[in-house]
Amino acid sequence: LEISARDLRLEQAFYGTIIHSISPQEIQILEKGLLLVGPDGKITLFRENVEKSQVAGLLAHYSSGAGSLRVRYLERGQFLIPGFVDTHNHAPQWTQRGTGRGKLLLDWLNEITFPHEAKFADASYARKTYSSCVDGFLKQGITTASYYGSLHGEATKILAELCLEKGQRALVGKCNMNQNSPDYCSDQSAADSLAATEDFISHVRRLDPEAKTVTPIITPRFAISCDRELLTGLGKIAQENPDLPIQTHFNEAEDEIALTKTLYHEFSNEADLYAHYNLLTSRTILAHCIYLEEYELDQIQQRGCGVAHCPISNTTIGGFMAAPIREYLRRGLNVGLGTDSGGGFSSSILDAMRQAFIVSKAREVATEGADEALSLNETFYLATLGGAKVCGLGDKIGNFAEGKEFDALEVHTMGADAGVIAPVEDEDDVNVILEKFLMTGDDRNIQKVYVKGRSVKA
Ligand code: GUN
Ligand code: FE
Repeated sequence: LEISARDLRLEQAFYGTIIHSISPQEIQILEKGLLLVGPDGKITLFRENVEKSQVAGLLAHYSSGAGSLRVRYLERGQFLIPGFVDTHNHAPQWTQRGTGRGKLLLDWLNEITFPHEAKFADASYARKTYSSCVDGFLKQGITTASYYGSLHGEATKILAELCLEKGQRALVGKCNMNQNSPDYCSDQSAADSLAATEDFISHVRRLDPEAKTVTPIITPRFAISCDRELLTGLGKIAQENPDLPIQTHFNEAEDEIALTKTLYHEFSNEADLYAHYNLLTSRTILAHCIYLEEYELDQIQQRGCGVAHCPISNTTIGGFMAAPIREYLRRGLNVGLGTDSGGGFSSSILDAMRQAFIVSKAREVATEGADEALSLNETFYLATLGGAKVCGLGDKIGNFAEGKEFDALEVHTMGADAGVIAPVEDEDDVNVILEKFLMTGDDRNIQKVYVKGRSVKA
């Protein structure tokens, strides 16, 4: 890959309103924040309560002085937030998103998804689609995505290359599936599937040895799609590569759970199944997690698994189910948000946040107040720091701190960049402006997107 001019970064500084999560409940809003980013994309200075008159002096002292420094002064209605993390995303479904309304999961897979994913046998189709997919997610401020590819190794390599080229931080997985899907959309054997996975992993490792922004992820689609030999082999790969994350679908829908129990009758629940194959670890991202027995909740808590909460697809193709998000937070599980594009019709984390509010409210009503709805702060956390932790990146990204990498969005809510956001009025303070953006804004308000200091908005 060639190094583009955009890679030749200088030091950058931002002064003004900086907003981020410091815990699930707490958002920190720095109205006079100063943040300096080094040429390597790491935050070298992060200060609060800095007067404008002090900015030049502090930057002169803390910048390396080696090259030039660009300083961005944020005005009223403009602020920085951490980039959004999408913990569950099917890249090939970018082009089928929104279709197949009214179908339940297994029918939706057979009738809509498998015929569509089969198209990724064609590398040029994959390149065109994945290019549009990565651009589309970056435009919406998704600086990190955990992607399922299709079953095709070559297409999935193209996806990983495009993430690296376009600058999106990503976990990318060749999807493993060798049973219960039509022949035209299936790995031909467990051995084939495992060989393609090993080849994919070494390819991606060679692509990104230094940058460490694109990593392979072990991706058994779900137990229904994988036979025992395949799950055994994937668990072995997971054990041999302790740095690699793992992702799968977990307790997503009633028809899925029933079929899993029929196929894998030796296990009485999905936690035991995946644990048996060494796939239920602290590196595992479990999508959906809707119907968990108490025992399974304990298992994922003890093992430190991450939960990808996908409120849009949970209320469409999963039937209409509100995952017990309050219980996850109460237990201190690692939880983030997933668009689940395209089972979820939207590719926007802002939409996922809004749907997370709605379904958590539905659950509050259904439990007569026992499971309190999500707060704005909690939902913002899920979309940023919570998601980063789920992806194993909590020490690198998700909020701002000296030494962390600068993955951020510059949000504009006023003037020519306002889009259709609820108009900001004179009396609105920063809290209100943030709430207006989160509840009514869209990609037009996301002016700039940075990953590891690089400006990447398509
Ligand atoms: N379970 C197995 N495959 C899929 C998929 O593509 N999307 C969703 N939402 N669930 C799945
Ligand atoms: Fe999914």
